[in-house]
Amino acid sequence: MIGAGYVGLVSGVCFADFGHEVVCVDTDAKKIDALKNGRMPIFEPGLDALAEANVRDGRLSFSTDLAPAVASADAVFIAVGTPSRRGDGFADLSYVYAAAREIALAVDGFTVVVTKSTVPVGTGDEVERIIREVNPQADVAVVSNPEFLREGAAIEDFKRPDRIVVGIEDERARPVMGEVYRPLYLNQAPILYTTRRTSELIKYAANSFLAMKITFINEIADLCEKVNANVQEVARGIGLDNRIGSKFLHAGPGYGGSCFPKDTLALVKTAQDYDRPLRLIETTVAVNDRRKRAMGRKVIAACGGDVRGKVIGVLGLAFKPNTDDMRDSPAITIIQTLKDAGAIVRGYDPEAMENARDVIEGMSFSSGPYECAEGADGLVVVTEWNQFRALDLTRLKSVMKSPLIVDLRNVYRRDEMSRHGFQYVSVGRPGDDLI
Ligand code: NAD
Ligand code: UGA
Repeated sequence: MIGAGYVGLVSGVCFADFGHEVVCVDTDAKKIDALKNGRMPIFEPGLDALAEANVRDGRLSFSTDLAPAVASADAVFIAVGTPSRRGDGFADLSYVYAAAREIALAVDGFTVVVTKSTVPVGTGDEVERIIREVNPQADVAVVSNPEFLREGAAIEDFKRPDRIVVGIEDERARPVMGEVYRPLYLNQAPILYTTRRTSELIKYAANSFLAMKITFINEIADLCEKVNANVQEVARGIGLDNRIGSKFLHAGPGYGGSCFPKDTLALVKTAQDYDRPLRLIETTVAVNDRRKRAMGRKVIAACGGDVRGKVIGVLGLAFKPNTDDMRDSPAITIIQTLKDAGAIVRGYDPEAMENARDVIEGMSFSSGPYECAEGADGLVVVTEWNQFRALDLTRLKSVMKSPLIVDLRNVYRRDEMSRHGFQYVSVGRPGDDLI
């Protein structure tokens, strides 16, 4: 497994748990050192215990040394990052290509090279070309096997996927991939074999569709506010239609994270390059970008239109619960909007504080939700961590300067907030019309 980040580490640990022998390789020596010492470099529920068990049983190890790991492997997975390229939004494939060059020099005997990173259509062709150019003797089959796990539920998603997609061009890869995923196949997870290019596109189409679905319900939420309707009931009302489905219809501050923002941008760029623009996804990107600042303005409006000198507490900094990932978190933009308007911002997150310190300047960090609310003129729920779902409202009110809650994830009910004497603003429900 080349790359021991969110995807590589979870995949490596789960493959080892299936009974395979796995070496997770990363160029980041600090990460590998931590892993060797039993410390997880990321927060992902259940990962530490599963990793520990598989290390103990001798199936899982960690290394910075790619060559020996690749030489002895039947299958090598590339799970390095593919961030947005600065300037044009296309996927930066430099890490993938660098890994391909290193793999080319190290393979020994027939080896299946699998791209698990999310990569634009045609990348598998280029990986194959690079390997053949660097080492004309290399006997490889290059496969696409995109990953669909979600952070925070990664182990469950990996072990019980809706489907496994495998894109192959060389039939010799099929039995190897079948063997790798055999334990899941026994669990009835369907394996969909396609061509490599189709498989690469499936990944972007899936993420872009989900991003569009969220953006759709977010726009409906805005309309609900104007017409005095309830977006949660609209979501339920449409989601019960099996053709639509109830998932990914939670209105909120806009999607964030390490994948939807960069993958929608990359797909837009690919489509433009092929002169087949995807207007729906272009609009999704634009609407979602605007939404994050609009959420900052919603908080300002809830505070009476002026937050200069006011103290605002922000509960939840990670882009979603159960992760410490701050990449493209809506909290970053919301906090920036509040600071630009002169607010004094403090924040709390159960797991993402360390990462948040690296990406957000000019705010302070609290030791818990009540500390974050202490003396505050308003409290904003940005990420729906479980521990924010049942706050002691009496205690909260007693520590705040003004009892105002802006709930951007709709975790509370207006009637219970009113009962406790709070001014309450949420997203897309009656009474939320502010701007
Ligand atoms: P990440 O940044 O957490 O991890 C990538 C790792 O690769 C880093 O630890 C980095 O040091 C390492 N690396 C880079 N070049 C290397 C090389 N040549 N050799 C060895 N290690 C190298 O990234 P991530 O979130 O795990 O994402 C990886 C890929 O998986 C991306 O393409 C992403 O779009 C895709 N993906 C991510 C998720 C997710 O939930 N994070 C889900 C599905 C797919
Ligand atoms: C997403 C996909 O769900 C995974 O299938 C995919 O593998 C992954 O991207 C990837 O390619 O990396 P992830 O980014 O971990 O997973 O998290 P999601 O649960 O999809 O949430 C993404 C964003 O959408 C979060 O900011 C979340 O708060 C937001 N969201 C999600 C909503 O606002 N409403 C919803 O109903 C669902």
